[in-house]
Amino acid sequence: MRDLDGSVALVTGGSRGIGAAVARQLAAEGADVALTYQHSRERAEAVVAEIETLGRRAVALAADSADAAAVVGAVHRTAAELGGLDILVNNAGIFPAKPYREFTVAEVDLALNVHARAAFVAGQAALDHMGERGRIISIGTNLTDHAPFAGLSLYNLSKSALNGYTKALARELGPRGITVNLVQPGVTDTDMNPADGARAADRAARTALGRYGAADDVAATVAFLAGPGARSITGSVITVDSGTNA
Ligand SMILES: NC(=O)c1ccc[n+]([C@@H]2O[C@H](COP(=O)([O-])OP(=O)(O)OC[C@H]3O[C@@H](n4cnc5c(N)ncnc54)[C@H](OP(=O)(O)O)[C@@H]3O)[C@@H](O)[C@H]2O)c1
Repeated sequence: MRDLDGSVALVTGGSRGIGAAVARQLAAEGADVALTYQHSRERAEAVVAEIETLGRRAVALAADSADAAAVVGAVHRTAAELGGLDILVNNAGIFPAKPYREFTVAEVDLALNVHARAAFVAGQAALDHMGERGRIISIGTNLTDHAPFAGLSLYNLSKSALNGYTKALARELGPRGITVNLVQPGVTDTDMNPADGARAADRAARTALGRYGAADDVAATVAFLAGPGARSITGSVITVDSGTNA
């Protein structure tokens, strides 16, 4: 018996990077998995195919996290197609970084909608389906605890909302047995932040371990929080940043 046998998970932004690694890991531990994407249909379908080779069911759903109705629709489709919903992972994200005064209102709206509003409405919709082993796990960033370079005003505004959301919701949903936690990655080798990118050497040098993390490192933490061993962890923030903020 694996930790997540019989569970159903939804991972937003599961076509690439951390979300794809989380989807694979949850499936490896026994969950059936739905994943959303915005543009990368082929990559999302490739993740689905990988999960199916593990003997689990999987489905890729086109759902723009900036569109609240699309996010809610993905939650309900997950439950309809996979027979319920136990684990919600709010992962879809973007990295808007530039000088504070250059951001437009449209850019502010986009970041707030993709990072904060999507998590809010997905969690609300998930409550229609979650029972006592429900898990809501959001992906924040270690940069909201310590901003080591300029340009992060909008990213941090939108991501830090997840911290307050996590704690408030943990308190509110505790009586239902649902846990709510936040995972804060640091530098993680993905398309968003490639370990061979222009600023990668500086970023790796700021870590305690002297290297980027892998998407699988974040996925392992999410899978732990989703499993029975984490039943008493709620309202917590776990940073997975190779010691950048140590
Ligand atoms: N990589 C890092 O160093 C790092 C560090 C801290 C936190 N994070 C956070 O970790 C999460 C995953 O990041 P990543 O590095 O894996 O990024 P990534 O490689 O750029 O992948 C982003 C994922 O999010 C999806 N996505 C983006 N905008 C979306 C939208 N509007 N609607 C639906 N899906 C959308 C993408 O879908 P498509 O493929 O369809 O575009 C893709 O699956 C993000 O929340 C990010 O802020 C990353």
